Amino acid sequence: MKNRLAKMFNKKASDPKNKSDQIIEAINLKEGQNVADIGSGGGYFSLRFAVIVGEKGKVYPVDTKSKFLEFIKNNAKEKGLNNIKPTLVSEDRLDLPCTIENHDCKSVVQGLPEKSLDFIFMRNVTHHIPNRVKYFRNLKNFIKPDGKIIIIEYKKGKSFTFHRIFGHNVSKEIIIKEMEKAGYLLEKEFDFLPEQHFTIYSRK
Ligand SMILES: C[S@@+](CC[C@H](N)C(=O)[O-])C[C@H]1O[C@@H](n2cnc3c(N)ncnc32)[C@H](O)[C@@H]1O
Repeated sequence: MKNRLAKMFNKKASDPKNKSDQIIEAINLKEGQNVADIGSGGGYFSLRFAVIVGEKGKVYPVDTKSKFLEFIKNNAKEKGLNNIKPTLVSEDRLDLPCTIENHDCKSVVQGLPEKSLDFIFMRNVTHHIPNRVKYFRNLKNFIKPDGKIIIIEYKKGKSFTFHRIFGHNVSKEIIIKEMEKAGYLLEKEFDFLPEQHFTIYSRK
């Protein structure tokens, strides 16, 4: 069931209409950098990032669901990518030990390493996060002083899509306000995505 969902996330992420190549180009990730993909789902972006950062960099797919992380781990192994570190987290914290029942906690990284990331990438996940200002503030513990936070989130949209009906969206204005409250500056914004807004932040 979870694998089916993971595959569905990847299919959507890779659909040309969702412009993954343009997203990757806009981020301008470089060899040797470290990046966390929070709410990594099926890991489509994690795997692409891993190819770009290469052996000298690290990619941390971060999720609350261990099944998704195992799916990503297996895909990375098949593709011979050794720089992927699946990281299990709880809903509102990134540094807690693995406590998920019946899960082999030794098979995943437990919590993100501090002050080590060049980028934190969050695509289609902020609507799931409780207490976002507090959560965003906490992200500062994991990025380097010049690290960036990238947020791609669904717009409300005009038609009756899944994400509109189920409230899976947060407006760009709200995200910018929350990020400012949490201590970030809006650095860049892009408007080439049909369904989402796309913003990049640095520390104030
Ligand atoms: C809609 S999917 C997006 C997947 C992927 N980012 C993409 O763009 O294809 C949302 C993902 O976020 C995860 N998630 C939900 N709440 C989370 C949280 N509080 N922290 C980390 N991941 C979370 C879900 O398990 C799911 O894998």
